[in-house]
Amino acid sequence: MRHMETMRWVDGCLEILDQTLLPGKTEYIKCEHYTTICDAIRRLSVRGAPAIGAAAAYGLALGAASLSPAGKAEFVSAIEQIARELCDTRPTAINLQWAVDRMLQLLHEQTTDSVEVLKETLLAAAHAIYREDLASNRRIGEFGEKLIPPNVSILTHCNAGALATAGFGTALGVIRAAHQAGKNIHVYADETRPLLQGARLTAWELMQDNIPVTLLTDNMAGYLMACGKVDLVIVGADRITANGDVANKIGTYSVAVLAKEHGLPFYVAAPMSTFDLNLAGGQEIPIENRDEREVTHFAGHPVAPAGVKVWNPAFDVTPHPLVTAIITDRGVARPPYTKTLPALVDK
Ligand code: MRU
Repeated sequence: MRHMETMRWVDGCLEILDQTLLPGKTEYIKCEHYTTICDAIRRLSVRGAPAIGAAAAYGLALGAASLSPAGKAEFVSAIEQIARELCDTRPTAINLQWAVDRMLQLLHEQTTDSVEVLKETLLAAAHAIYREDLASNRRIGEFGEKLIPPNVSILTHCNAGALATAGFGTALGVIRAAHQAGKNIHVYADETRPLLQGARLTAWELMQDNIPVTLLTDNMAGYLMACGKVDLVIVGADRITANGDVANKIGTYSVAVLAKEHGLPFYVAAPMSTFDLNLAGGQEIPIENRDEREVTHFAGHPVAPAGVKVWNPAFDVTPHPLVTAIITDRGVARPPYTKTLPALVDK
């Protein structure tokens, strides 16, 4: 079926599906200026590692379009400033930095002095990043589907679906591909506190595709496994380091520990743009801390005593010994990741 587009380029503007309103409302935010994209990324109107990468790429193109520099040097320096602002919006998902770096590298490679040509080049690169992500997710689906048994119950955490990407999804892409291959799949979706990406987005996406899904709160996952109701776990990733450590939505680590305890495979699905092989291990990944109101308030209402101290990291790191395999757009990597990940990157 045709999915809601996460973002779309219309008449020189980026329209972003406001995921903070889902599943109740489907509204697009019209971004005429890159600062609107920065805000949309910060407030999670657009979220999910590959989606924020693509949005940032369009942000750079939109920023470029608004410039009237005296010459190329002034243009390049203004673009570098916009790139820094975009990268500062969210620190954990490497896809954002990856997309911006790819655009900057392309810019530096251009020999033309025409600012208009440079603007067009940046927009074309943003379109390419968006298009390639969709193709990557389909390949992840093809590789991952082979790991899925014919009758299976899968637990997932957060939303690594079409909404988190340019379409199809990573973890949900594997699930979609297996469903399309005729496999009998039942998905359990963790609600994913504090911002409920599992309840609001994953459950919604799967129901739209008629893939059977059952929602549970995060603290029910252990008992669900103990009851024998889960065969395997698949999640997405925000950054994967050289040793195979995986940063993903807060709560992923707990699920991985539970999977290990219950002898269940724990799969991670991610495109190559999520790999950061410059980092040796997960302890080097910057983890975003978010506003305490996300924990003290629920749907705008206070649910904790005013003034209470809050800890609200948006992501955690799952150490590589807990990761059974990493499903990428270039194939499936298994331990030892220090050997198998560089081999995929060089492929
Ligand atoms: O804070 P979010 O909603 O951007 O977090 C998203 C996740 O953690 C996803 O699992 C991850 O980005 C992979 S998306 C394909």
